[in-house]
This record gives sequence, structure tokens and C-alpha cells, in this order.
Amino acid sequence: MQKRPLLIVILAAGKGTRMKSRRPKVLHEIAGRSLIGHVMAAAKAAGAERLAVVIGPGMDDVRAEVGRNLEGSDVFVQTSQLGTADALLAARPALERHQGDVIVLFGDTPLITAQTIMRTADALAGGASVAVVGFEAGDPTGYGRILRDATGCVAAIREEKEASEGERQIRLCNSGVMGFRSEHLLGILTAIGNANAKGEYYLTDAVEIAHGRGQRTVTVMGSEGEMMGINDRAQLAAADAIFQATKRAAVMAGGATLVAPETVTFSHDTIVGEDVLIEPYVVIGPGVTIESNVTIRAFTHVVGTDRKSQSGARISSGSEVGPFARLRPGTNLGANVHIGNFVEVKNAVLEDGAKANHLSYLGDAHIGKGANIGAGTITCNYDGFNKHRTEIGADAFIGSNTALVAPVSIGEGAIVGAGSVITKDVAGGALAMTRADQKEWTGWAARFKRMMQRPKAKTA
Ligand code: UD1
Ligand code: MG
Repeated sequence: MQKRPLLIVILAAGKGTRMKSRRPKVLHEIAGRSLIGHVMAAAKAAGAERLAVVIGPGMDDVRAEVGRNLEGSDVFVQTSQLGTADALLAARPALERHQGDVIVLFGDTPLITAQTIMRTADALAGGASVAVVGFEAGDPTGYGRILRDATGCVAAIREEKEASEGERQIRLCNSGVMGFRSEHLLGILTAIGNANAKGEYYLTDAVEIAHGRGQRTVTVMGSEGEMMGINDRAQLAAADAIFQATKRAAVMAGGATLVAPETVTFSHDTIVGEDVLIEPYVVIGPGVTIESNVTIRAFTHVVGTDRKSQSGARISSGSEVGPFARLRPGTNLGANVHIGNFVEVKNAVLEDGAKANHLSYLGDAHIGKGANIGAGTITCNYDGFNKHRTEIGADAFIGSNTALVAPVSIGEGAIVGAGSVITKDVAGGALAMTRADQKEWTGWAARFKRMMQRPKAKTA
């Protein structure tokens, strides 16, 4: 079979009113990536030469997200929502330019795989004029049903609203993924009318037209999970659950132990090495790499990348994190670093063997090899206007409950006494302390207790 140039068009003009959201539907996320981001990733992986996305008027945020996922994608605006065939025609300039295969995907079907897209392209390369990806639905309600002729070719797709009682019994459903040979496509599209229950131009009518013209129309089978379309929040959660189950299985197959897999959530791009142990209730955000032999204890949140930052997080081999730790964007832990309970790290490098075992905030900091950060240490990085950095040299020892008022630097091997507020740089090897002198009053406590225990004088 000869591979032909592939144009993928993603239809995403729908507002998704059932999401009850100010955000367009395709910008909602599963596993830290927008729905359209998932679809575009599958399209790229399937080897599309060009990608065109059809959006609705005023969807500038969707346009921006498309650009972030693949620069140079063509974006077209469908001015009024007249149906899926009309949406595809909004990309007419791209269709006219293209010679080869055209595959149409929906922006709200995020679990579609590159393999299914490639199998659709194979069906076209094998001589089909139209290929429809179908699946057997447990509950077919709401989907278009695939009607076949005596030879097994697709004769038509019947939308639920137009289906007869008998046709509604059919469980073979249209996923929405359709492939076309470009030489026939525009001729078919312009022949589609809108004489149906919704008064819309249905892309699905392309099948009946092509079949009537004697062209080959075939079905490519997909699985129901992969074809899941997102129309409301419950379906969003269900798709996320499917994604997480697949990702957990892949992480475990890669040699990591998940103590209670169903309580650990990953992002689409989480990298996990061999012999990693992840305890229950751990959340991993986008852009996180966990190297081999790392232990992540219960209730830890590795934020990774958030909306404001692109910096992700890295946990190098042999490190231990948690329980109850929070690693925010820009956390970079060297080998054998220990981050203990109630420690928050943000935009900070901890070199090999550094330890912060309890109750600390380390933000905008560089912490040298083997440094020990005592319980309750805080880098005071923010003065209400600007962020400032803290430098801590290798093998430095920061006593408990120290406030390091940035910008400030602690030299290599220096010791800071517990309870200090450090506002000036400390030289390497020095001891610095800002504690008040301790005073002692001999016998004071016993006298005090006797006085307090004396019976009170009766008041009349
Ligand atoms: C569609 C199919 C149906 C299939 C189902 C699978 C048609 C006519 N029906 O129905 O056979 O079983 O998907 O989920 O194609 N869109 C636009 N502009 C429009 C209308 C839709 O861009 O004018 C986009 C939407 O954003 C969405 C996609 O096309 O991404 C599908 O539209 P939707 O209204 O959800 O179609 P369904 O009724 O689900
Ligand atoms: Mg839909």
C-alpha cells in the first residue's frame, strides 16, 4: 500500500454548553493537557503532513492553544454552527490545496490513538473513498448508527434523531473519525444538504452520497474507550479515568511499584524510571521526570508545571520525597536528596545529597551538595514586590527555625544557629547566629509554682 500525503482536520467549533463553563470545551483538561492538545498529539504521531483546526468565532484562547501544540497549524473559523459538514467546509482552502488523504477528527474525543488514525489512512490507501471508524457501543444512545449493505460496505450513517426503531437497535456506532480521498471530498461535501431533524449539514451524509456514486465506503473498527466523546463533566472524569488506568499500567510495566495504583494520578507526559516506589495518594502534575530508585511517599503533590510557569520538576535517582511534600514548578532535586514531611520547594535546585527533612519552605534557592536544612527553615524570598534568591553552599548546616531573608548567601560548610533571622551573607566555614543571649533565674520556677498554689483569700 502506498502512503499518501495526509491532512488532518480537527473540528472544534462547538461551545460545549453542557460543560457549563466559561472555558471552551476543548480547553478542558485530562491528565494536565487540553482535550484538543491530546487530539493534536495523536494527529502528529500519526504522521500528518498538515493539521487544520476549525474553531468558532472569538475562540482566541483555542487558537492560542493550537499554536502552542503545533506551530504552523492552519486555523479556520466556522462563522455559524451549521453542522459537521459545514465545519469541514470552513477548512476549504486547506482541502483545495491538499492532494492525498483527509482525516477528520473531533476536538472533544481526546483518547483517539495514532494507531487508529493510521489504520484509517491504510483503508484509504487500500482503495476506499470513505473510511468510517466504528465501534460497538455498550449503550449506543446519541451516536450515529452505521448501516451496512449486503457486501459489508457502509451504506449510510443514520443520526439518532432520524433513525427508525429498527435502526436504533444497531450497536455499531460512528465514532466521528472519518477518512476521505481528497479527489472525491469536495464533490461529496458540496452535495450534502440539511433536510433533517436538526436542520444541520451532517458530515455523516457523505457516506450515503459516496456509496450512491459507486465509491468504496468501509468501516475501520475501534474500541469504545478510545472513541469516547466529551460533552459534560462526568464524561470528562470518565475519560480521565481511562487515561489514568492506561498510564498507571505503562508506569508499572516500566518497572515502578505503585502501592495503591488507583490513588496515584499522573500527567500525560510523566516520566517514571525503574525501581521507583510511589505510595498512595500522590498527584503528579505536567512536566515531571522521576528517575530510577526514587521513593515518593504518601500524600505528595508534585505540581510540575502550572499555568504561570513552564519549568516542570525533576527528581533524580535515589531521592526520597514526602510524605506530605509539595514540589512546585522549577524544582530540581539531585541524586539522593531527601525532602521530608511538610516541605515545599519552588524554583530551587538541591544538589546531590542535600536534605530538608521537615517543615520548610525553599523557594528561589540554590542548595549545595550535602547541605542540611533544619526543621522550620524558611527562605523569605518575597518582599511583597519582588522575588529574591537564597544561595546555600555545599555542606552548610542551617539550624532549625531559621529565616533566611533573601537575597542572602550562606558559604560552603557554614553553620547557622537555630532560631536565627539571617539578613547578611555568611562566610564559608563560619558560625552565624542572631539569637538573644539566654538568661537564667535560679529557683524561680519553684517559687512561682508555690505562689500560684497558695489558697486564695476568701472574698466576702
Ligand atoms: C457526531 C456524529 C455522530 C457520531 C458522534 C460521535 C455527525 C452529524 N454526527 O454527533 O454520527 O456518532 O459525533 O461522537 O457528525 N462541530 C463543529 N461545528 C458544527 C457542529 C459540530 O465544529 O457546526 C464539531 C464539535 O465541536 C464537535 C464535533 O464537531 O467536536 C461533533 O459535533 P457534535 O455536535 O458533538 O456531534 P454529535 O451530535 O456528537
Ligand atoms: Mg458530540
